[in-house]
Amino acid sequence: MEVVIKKTADEVGALAADLVGRVVESKPRAVIGLATGSSPLAIYAGLAKRVEAGSLDFTGVRGFALDEYVGIPEDHPQSYASVIRHEVIEPLHMDPALVQVPDGRAVDVEVACREYEQAIVDAGGIDIQILGIGANGHIGFNEPSSSFASRTRIKTLAPKTRADNARFFDSLDDVPTHCVTQGLGTIMHARRLVLVAQGEGKADAIAAAVEGPVAAICPASVLQFHEHATVIIDEAAASKLRLADYYTYTYDNKPAWQL
Ligand code: F6R
Repeated sequence: MEVVIKKTADEVGALAADLVGRVVESKPRAVIGLATGSSPLAIYAGLAKRVEAGSLDFTGVRGFALDEYVGIPEDHPQSYASVIRHEVIEPLHMDPALVQVPDGRAVDVEVACREYEQAIVDAGGIDIQILGIGANGHIGFNEPSSSFASRTRIKTLAPKTRADNARFFDSLDDVPTHCVTQGLGTIMHARRLVLVAQGEGKADAIAAAVEGPVAAICPASVLQFHEHATVIIDEAAASKLRLADYYTYTYDNKPAWQL
């Protein structure tokens, strides 16, 4: 796992946008895994600037969102279908037909989840998966104790996650109790993972994910088993890492051909 510590949240977003941008430059029909929430917003904003400047083209890029709430309509402003439309599809000028979000309203959720998995396979698999991390160590909405082998399925949101996400809703009661999320097994099949985190509120989760034992209590710790995972964080999110200086040393001395 590569850990890159940047001074500010803006620098985190800029570096992660560079990584994603490079994938799209080298593969105009790349398949990208899309996280929602606050963490990746600077990535999408950085990519959108390059699209506006004409130096990056997302029109052939496919997208698969990580997760979706269950129990709110698709046109609810906080459904991830809406968020992906406003924060990703529109600013990056993506083809909406090429972007899928798990269906939180399906009558047969199990079938819809299987079809979502199949759609990812049919698209050739995810080239780069963008991830945030919950304060409890979740990725996607794989809450603590999620199976490392899990696939897209319905999950109950942890009380901590509902409380953290209440800022997007009028009240805590309005936050859905359930979601559909790509599984940890789904995420681990992406060819490359880039996880971003900013702020002190993520410091414990980052320390557990990067330096703790690989254990279901911290779902993000599964990234230690991925052959190409990059964790990009600001100094506040890195503040509980024991080997922070070492990560910075290795990044500063990274061979140019690996950049
Ligand atoms: C959302 C997702 C979640 C968030 C995490 C952090 O699609 O996959 O894992 O990345 O809850 O959320 P923020 O970025 O809002 O702190």
